[in-house]
Amino acid sequence: MKNKTTIAFVLLFLLPCFVKAQKWEGLANTPAMGWNSWNKFACNIDENLIKEIADAMVEQGLLDAGYQYVNIDDCWHGERDSLGFIQADPVRFASGIKPLADYVHSKGLKLGIYSDAGRATCGCRPGSFGHEYQDALQYAKWGVDYLKYDWCETEDINPIGAYTLMRDALRKAGRPIYFSMCEWGNNKPWLWASEVGHSWRTTGDIFNSFDGIDDHGDWKAFGVMQILDMQEGLRKYAGPGHWNDPDMLEVGNGQTVNEDRAHFTMWCMLAAPLILGNDIRSMSQETKDIILNKEVIAIDQDPLGVQGLKFAAEDGLEFWFKPLAGDDWAFCILNRSLEDKTYTIDWQKFNLTDEEVSKRSTSFDSVEYTLKNLWEKNPKKANVGTTKKAKSVTIPAHDVILYRLTPKTKK
Ligand code: GLA
Repeated sequence: MKNKTTIAFVLLFLLPCFVKAQKWEGLANTPAMGWNSWNKFACNIDENLIKEIADAMVEQGLLDAGYQYVNIDDCWHGERDSLGFIQADPVRFASGIKPLADYVHSKGLKLGIYSDAGRATCGCRPGSFGHEYQDALQYAKWGVDYLKYDWCETEDINPIGAYTLMRDALRKAGRPIYFSMCEWGNNKPWLWASEVGHSWRTTGDIFNSFDGIDDHGDWKAFGVMQILDMQEGLRKYAGPGHWNDPDMLEVGNGQTVNEDRAHFTMWCMLAAPLILGNDIRSMSQETKDIILNKEVIAIDQDPLGVQGLKFAAEDGLEFWFKPLAGDDWAFCILNRSLEDKTYTIDWQKFNLTDEEVSKRSTSFDSVEYTLKNLWEKNPKKANVGTTKKAKSVTIPAHDVILYRLTPKTKK
């Protein structure tokens, strides 16, 4: 009898301590790329919109460029059925989520969905609290590939517990689902979430502004520059499989082309998930040129997986470096000011070692790099010399210059 009790004790209480629960691995070796409904459409969504977006993802060349997720944000929900299983809104998503997932998959894309760790979502739809395993099962059954998990109505809920619970539920449901944590950085997820989620929001919501704060009283939304500043100190927590998420893109939603280019570039320097937030069915050529620039996307998606660093700032300019695979570097000057600036780059001032993450050095004193201007449209003009001598550049207001540096001796 005593033996049986001991065995039962070991099985029930001790064994689970040694069987390590896991998130789905291999889904985010590089930052996720896709589209999400919230920034442009908020709750004004339905299945036709999602299908048209999926069509546009393919027709506009976005899928070819690497954008694969079509993510439905808040407000797709209906009620729970009598057994507690969540259903889609019977009017807006009348055919249900499964046929939509099938449609999206038939295009070679993946479908994302949204829920919340609390009792209700931020848009007052049913949250997953108390239904985590049921919801994960339902998403897996529908063929969902990505879950954004929000943090409204969670006053008395433990964040580590809530996100770990949903991670375990997703794993148990048996379908690989990318887990995008959205608790706005309130509980410093970078310190505890690398084995919980594939990415975690680091801040409150972005809004369609380059530089500003939108104060709603009990919460604030932030412009691109404010969100950028809030990434300070976080780069050491990101890497393949677990990324800082400075929120979805506002490119194509009405800022100037210079601002959109700067926004997109900085998100790439941050190795951020690139989740588009504009209406990709009708885009200007300028917007397409930004979000489809494969060489810039390659900076974000670089396999080394190291988030970029701000090396210096002076007179409204910031100087950023990102170590890339194969001894290359991305180098960017961001002009935050409202005036165009001319600046002479003396490479010898930028001899740096990334002590914090990659341990790589730029070594401009001993290595000569070729320079490629990644925003130059004319391929004949894109190669702009080497780091052997100083270079004078003009960076327009609210814009960037972005170079890829490759050691000259490299084969
Ligand atoms: C929160 C999130 C946003 C969006 C909305 C939906 O504010 O941070 O990204 O998902 O909820 O209600």
